[in-house]
Amino acid sequence: MSSYNEYVRNVLIWNQELKQLLESEEVQKEESIWKRLDKFSQLMEGVQRKPIETEELIRIQHEAEELHEQMESYFAQRQQLGTIFIKEPTIAAGEHQLPQLAYAYDALEPYISKEIMELHHQKHHQSYVTGLNKAEEKLKEARKNNDFALVKHWSRELAFHGSGHYLHTIFWNNMSPNGGGKPKGALMEEIRSYFGSFNAFKNHFSEAAKAVEGVGWALLVWSPRARRLEVLQSERHMLLTQWDTIPLLVLDVWEHAYYLQYKNNRGDYVDNWWNIVNWKDVENRFLKASELKWRPY
Ligand SMILES: [Fe+2]
Repeated sequence: MSSYNEYVRNVLIWNQELKQLLESEEVQKEESIWKRLDKFSQLMEGVQRKPIETEELIRIQHEAEELHEQMESYFAQRQQLGTIFIKEPTIAAGEHQLPQLAYAYDALEPYISKEIMELHHQKHHQSYVTGLNKAEEKLKEARKNNDFALVKHWSRELAFHGSGHYLHTIFWNNMSPNGGGKPKGALMEEIRSYFGSFNAFKNHFSEAAKAVEGVGWALLVWSPRARRLEVLQSERHMLLTQWDTIPLLVLDVWEHAYYLQYKNNRGDYVDNWWNIVNWKDVENRFLKASELKWRPY
């Protein structure tokens, strides 16, 4: 048997297995993943009836890769609840909500007063949620009308209020009336291995927090690339980032990235850049990043 035919035979077996998997996992018939699989089955049936051409083989390979990725992404985005699966909840533009605290406003006393907690949560955090929703809606409108005259302003608002909302959500959950002490297990091992000891970490974190210029945050972060912890400071939190998000596609617009060739014409550089985007890489980053899930509130 030629290796082409053998490949096609293997793909056909794989196709059957995918169908069985979707059925055994009770994937609803209306899910788009079924449509893609049906389309692929038709393609494979067509191929079976005649000798295979190289071009067709490339088409099959391409389609098989896409199907594989869609399957991965589908299963990564759903969650098991008892014996059934549900699609992971997502928050549409403009639909963030103020999270409830897991404890009473006076529960952190005497370390943080009830008055502070009430104001902080009900007024400050609420205003971040409101501001984030507004920025997202305005940018949605801009995309719809293809009018980006205020993109700079709303991107700032998106970063300021987005970081405010996400960091406060982490902050509330980082505290507990039964808190204090030291971490255990893998986290403690990581802290010891990188910072030397728990006390060294605690001193570093405390000093970083005290030395933040003006207002802001101290953060213990995990770097998926260095695969270790780090302590960072954030001055304010709105320097055009949303803490708690993961970059997927980035474009360097520092002058060193284009000036020699484009001079001050950043626009041409940006427009031309789309010709060399490696979507495979972005897709891979997306798949990996979407495996990380926090509860929305
Ligand atoms: Fe705050």
